[in-house]
This record gives sequence, structure tokens and C-alpha cells, in this order.
Amino acid sequence: MIIMRPFVTVNCAMTADGKIASVLRKQMRISSAEDLARVKELRKNSDAILVGIGTVLSDDPHLTVKGLSYEENPLRIVLDGRGRLPETARVLDDLAETLIVTCENCSKTWAGAEVLRTGRDKVNLTDLMEKLYDRGIRTLMVEGGGEVISSFFENGLVDKYCVFVGSMIIGGRTAPTPADGNGFEQPVNLKLVDYKILGNGLLLTYEPVNDL
Ligand SMILES: NC(=O)c1ccc[n+]([C@@H]2O[C@H](COP(=O)([O-])OP(=O)(O)OC[C@H]3O[C@@H](n4cnc5c(N)ncnc54)[C@H](OP(=O)(O)O)[C@@H]3O)[C@@H](O)[C@H]2O)c1
Repeated sequence: MIIMRPFVTVNCAMTADGKIASVLRKQMRISSAEDLARVKELRKNSDAILVGIGTVLSDDPHLTVKGLSYEENPLRIVLDGRGRLPETARVLDDLAETLIVTCENCSKTWAGAEVLRTGRDKVNLTDLMEKLYDRGIRTLMVEGGGEVISSFFENGLVDKYCVFVGSMIIGGRTAPTPADGNGFEQPVNLKLVDYKILGNGLLLTYEPVNDL
């Protein structure tokens, strides 16, 4: 069945050894200045930016674009199935609209944020995509982390995958990677549609494909 959903761009930055954060799951500066400028433009041109609760608990991001007003900023979306988002999280500030997406059995609410409930153990991404489309979201940027990106691939909900490869090694068995989760029995095949040197790193742009 074909569903009406936003165009989904997954964006992340990884090291040359495929890690997106430190072994302690702390944010590290992986992007070059040129890549950060590109990410800012991508955010600006998205109707909504989505992350998982793991990213919020590790990095406490604002998920806003500097210089944009409340009305101009993209909608901030956090997937938080068990209601772990602290009231003090920066995504709950008054710089932009925020939507917390949680599971049907979670009754938590947050001051200043809208709450949407879908799915039993995990947020139902397909249902969420339809609901976002219904409220006018046409372009969605998924910023991470590894569990959420993996789920988007698993559900066939990725239209474009942009990964910046920073010129550094972090190492560490438990450092997160762009697609963690349980792994796929069948790989998700990608077509490389663009590559660009951005400062001391490389931006790779892929589109998922059924047949190569
Ligand atoms: N380099 C980069 O570009 C970049 C960008 C962002 C983040 N990061 C890094 O990524 C790490 C965080 O990644 P993470 O994998 O731990 O967390 P995450 O992907 O941000 O969040 C995962 C959590 O989201 C919740 N969730 C709810 N519905 C889900 C669904 N349908 N699919 C998947 N998750 C769902 C689950 O928690 P519940 O069960 O509680 O609902 C799950 O554990 C941090 O170290 C951060 O620094 C790096």
C-alpha cells in the first residue's frame, strides 16, 4: 500500500572508522565548517527535524537554526516511546515548535510541547509519517541517532541518505554507528548519487534502491 508521507532525508556525520559519537556516546565535532554550513541549509529547508530520545539524552540539542524565528524554525520532533524526555531538555525551549512522539501506553505530557501517541513498544514510524503528511510536513530531516536511522531504513522510509565522513578515527567497540539497531538480514542497497569534498572530509549522498 502506498502511503502519502514526507520526503525523508537522513543526515549524519561519521568518522573515517564509521563512528558517529564517542565510546561514551558523547557528541564529537566530526563535521568540517563547510559541512556544518550545509547542514544548516538542510535544516532551514526542512519542514521538520527528527531525532530519537537517545540523541536528546546524550547531546541535549536545540534542533533549531540560528537566526530563524519561532515561526520560521522547522518543527522539532523527538521519538520518545517511554516518556524519558526531561522537562529541562533544550528541545522544549521556546525557540521553535516541538512534537514529542510517544507510544500509546505512555500518558506523559510536557509543558509547551504537543504529544502524539502511536505504536505499542516503539513509535509506529509509518503511521507517524502519514500523520506528519496530513499536517503539512513535506520534507523531514532525520538527524539520528543510530537506532532511529536504522528504524527508518528498516521501514523503507528513507529517500536520501547523506553521510559526511570526517577525517579522524575514534575507535571503540561500543561507539555508535549510523545504523545500529539489530542489523538487517538483507542489506539495504544504496546508489551513490553524489560525492563532494567539504573541507577536510567527504560528503556522500545515496538513494536506497531495490535493484542495483
Ligand atoms: N554524528 C551524528 O551525525 C550524530 C547525530 C545524532 C546523534 N548522534 C549520536 O547518536 C547517539 C544516540 O543514538 P542512539 O542510537 O543511542 O539513540 P537515538 O537513535 O537517538 O534514539 C533511540 C531511541 O529512540 C526511541 N524510539 C522510539 N521509537 C523508535 C523507533 N521507531 N525506532 C527507533 N527508536 C525509537 C527508543 O527509545 P525508547 O524505547 O525509550 O522509546 C530508542 O532507544 C549519541 O551518541 C549521539 O551523540 C550522532
